[in-house]
Amino acid sequence: MALRVGLIGFGYWGPNLARNFGEIRGVSVTAVADRRADRREAVAARHPAVRLFEDPAELIARPDVDAVVVATPVSTHYELGLAALKAGKDVLIEKPLAATGAEAEMLVEVAAREGRVLMVDHTYVYAGAVRKIADLVDTGELGEIRYYDSLRINLGLFQSDVSVMWDLAIHDIALLQYLVRRRFLTVQATGGCHLGEGLESVAHLTLGLDGGAQAHVNVSWISPVKIRQTIIVGDRKMLLYDDLEPDEKIKVYDRGVVFDEDRPALLRDYRIGDMWSPRVDRREALAGVCAHFVQCVQTRARPLTGGPEGVESVRVLEAAQWSLRHAGQLVKL
Ligand SMILES: NC(=O)c1ccc[n+]([C@@H]2O[C@H](COP(=O)([O-])OP(=O)(O)OC[C@H]3O[C@@H](n4cnc5c(N)ncnc54)[C@H](O)[C@@H]3O)[C@@H](O)[C@H]2O)c1
Repeated sequence: MALRVGLIGFGYWGPNLARNFGEIRGVSVTAVADRRADRREAVAARHPAVRLFEDPAELIARPDVDAVVVATPVSTHYELGLAALKAGKDVLIEKPLAATGAEAEMLVEVAAREGRVLMVDHTYVYAGAVRKIADLVDTGELGEIRYYDSLRINLGLFQSDVSVMWDLAIHDIALLQYLVRRRFLTVQATGGCHLGEGLESVAHLTLGLDGGAQAHVNVSWISPVKIRQTIIVGDRKMLLYDDLEPDEKIKVYDRGVVFDEDRPALLRDYRIGDMWSPRVDRREALAGVCAHFVQCVQTRARPLTGGPEGVESVRVLEAAQWSLRHAGQLVKL
């Protein structure tokens, strides 16, 4: 059955969604809404057959729109997502799902009441490299994940309504949900606005997970270089995931520390074994997001990154925001 998608927001990310949905057989982007005339002109230039709207309510009301994709600033996700769900549409919302936990929970409640699919675009969960890391977790190759350390920094893009934490650390929270599969127990965050004024442009989060795993996440909009590196330490093996590396995105190290209870701490053995780089599916992660949403709409399956994952990640961000504004106090979740 053909699926007709309506897209709200054609700024930086919206065009990528339009392109990826447009490439799926049996799916067409029939309508785009954006408040800005120049962005509607950009749609007309790239997708001449698409109906254009200034007011998203008109797009949501269209009978020839089956599913709505929300790619507007975070502060608008709730209002637009809610209107689309209430109009009986299946909905994909950009990360993070909403600006508060209460809003995110309400979206989940309404989606359940209306029997609609609600999915959040936690893009990296659909990246080939992350799928490969999940395989390494599932097969026991890495062992139990004990530690996760991520550096996600670049210059910009400053968001108008959320801090860098809501913009970038959300990716790590989603990866931790998908890879470690444990509840978040604690969060501490520090950070600041080091250039200009307003929302924090640098943040450091420390997260404690059930079972003892710990994560550290460093995000910034004011770095001279773009870095996307994550170290994941299991109790059997360790890996480095560099998303910007063209060929060897993942390097798995057969390294570890051998603890012997009968020997003093200074006499630990270090295991330095081989390093290998597994082959990774190089398809665009967003193509996977769009394909998964279409599959969930057509089969009425529960999305891998659905309402519950969206709510939990927003709750973690909310707690981190509180900690950041209270000198890094530990928050129990
Ligand atoms: N998944 C990812 O990796 C990824 C990457 C970038 C951005 N995003 C997400 O995409 C969303 C949009 O980010 P962006 O960087 O494209 O922002 P942007 O500011 O570049 O674009 C937003 C667009 O939405 C339009 N808009 C705003 N409010 C509207 C409304 N009420 N009705 C209709 N149009 C409206 C604006 O005119 C603008 O063209 C955010 O939630 C962001 O977190 C996700």
